[in-house]
Amino acid sequence: MVRALTGIQPSGPPHIGNLKGMVEPAVELQESTEPFYFIASYHAMTTLKDPELFRQYQLEAAATFLAFGLDPKRAALFRQQDIPEVCELSWILGTHINLGILERAHAFKSAKDKGKEINLGTFSYPVLMAADILLYDTNLVPVGKDQKQHVEMAKDFAAGFNHRYGEEIFVIPEPVIRPEVATVPGVDGQKMSKSYGNTLGVFTPPKQLRKRVMKVVTDSKEMADPKDPDSCNVFALYGLFATKDEQAELADRYRAGGMGYGHAKQALFEVMDRALAEPRERYLELMDKPEQIEDVLEEGAAKARSVALQTMERVRSATGLGARR
Ligand code: AMP
Ligand code: TRP
Repeated sequence: MVRALTGIQPSGPPHIGNLKGMVEPAVELQESTEPFYFIASYHAMTTLKDPELFRQYQLEAAATFLAFGLDPKRAALFRQQDIPEVCELSWILGTHINLGILERAHAFKSAKDKGKEINLGTFSYPVLMAADILLYDTNLVPVGKDQKQHVEMAKDFAAGFNHRYGEEIFVIPEPVIRPEVATVPGVDGQKMSKSYGNTLGVFTPPKQLRKRVMKVVTDSKEMADPKDPDSCNVFALYGLFATKDEQAELADRYRAGGMGYGHAKQALFEVMDRALAEPRERYLELMDKPEQIEDVLEEGAAKARSVALQTMERVRSATGLGARR
């Protein structure tokens, strides 16, 4: 069976970019694949150092998958840190990777350009991510466009390793990126990202969500002016939640003039709330019973670990590390 794997960093409350770019596509893949989805805690540690928040965000990330319909009977949902082999594989891969490649990674380059703190974890982030992917014989990696480069790196590392030690060691993965949601814009028009403070939260209570939606930036056209839906952030976000007919109708109103952006924002809030109300309820129920989430994560870890141990046997044997005593 084809295996799909992806991760989400528990570095903040899940947002609409996460939902449309990754969570929904990943949940849909459970119909046709064997899903392995995990909470990328070690990755989040490169930026988050607050234990309380960290615990909370891990639960939120897990509850998000479940609230949007991930079936724990089909999928393994687990925490990265429950499979210690991932660190072992990350080390082994790292001894085969040239620094120059890591210097070209987007996350490192942008942290450097912005003069942010860069710890060793930030630098080796793509190596750990490759270990995540290769440890579980992954075929497909559903992600947003910002992760494409990382998945391509994992492919290269896998091919290089197989070439050196034997073609059967790693499965070569492929990214799966939905073009229509590849990059969801935030309230300021840049890519929506936890680190830019421009997110619309998936589970923000309706009143606050409405306020946030009203903050989405637009151009400064007057009410009477005709407007261009295709260059408008509000319209781009509307398209993620509205039906085709609703989109066509709002696009007509943009072009006709006489409609203010306030109206478009209210329409955006309404379609969002319609889509998010039910999952929000399930989410709140789950967050109220964290033991249930913990049970799912424990079962998921057992499933994931059994695959990880087999991969590590191949890697240890091929490299000369040999079987564990
Ligand atoms: P992260 O929160 O960085 O762990 O991202 C989790 C997943 O959400 C990854 O697959 C990202 O590519 C995806 N994602 C994050 N932000 C966006 C966005 N603005 N548009 C589309 N996908 C996104
Ligand atoms: N780096 C990913 C992100 O920020 C999260 C992640 C970690 C991941 N390991 C992964 C995604 C493996 C896919 C596969 O979104």
